[in-house]
Amino acid sequence: MRTLKGRIARGGPLLAVAALLVSTAAAGADELGSDWPEGPGREDVGYFCSACHSLAIVKQQGLTRGQWDEMFDWMVEEQGMPELEGEMREEFLDYLSENFGPDDRGEPQMSTRPQPLQPQK
Ligand code: HEC
Repeated sequence: MRTLKGRIARGGPLLAVAALLVSTAAAGADELGSDWPEGPGREDVGYFCSACHSLAIVKQQGLTRGQWDEMFDWMVEEQGMPELEGEMREEFLDYLSENFGPDDRGEPQMSTRPQPLQPQK
């Protein structure tokens, strides 16, 4: 099967490039961590915030939208974070208050905290 073989050989490098692109895209998503919640703005917020520090310090917060807003101001004024404005700020506030609000402290699904003991009967 000369022709088939030839086709595979010619397709080889292309397929390899395609596979590489796919795996790079997947690795990019994983960089944010599988416990960085899905949702609109996930990549924008994740890459922006992880530029300076671990996302762990973001995940451990449980703040209201207003508190996140103040946090941005604090980080701009005190920590040299670029100002977030307009739609971008809205998107970030939505994402953060949605996923790391006061009711959901963004804990990993498999909690490593000791679980309270069940009362024995
Ligand atoms: C320009 C760098 C920079 C960027 C970008 C940045 N931060 Fe920070 N952030 C800091 C620094 C510096 C600290 C202080 C770190 C420390 O105390 O170890 C900090 C601290 C924090 C803290 C901890 C506050 C506390 O009370 O301890 C939170 C939460 C936080 N950042 C959230 C975010 C979020 C959310 C984003 C994305 C919107 C973000 N940061 C983007 C620089 C940045």
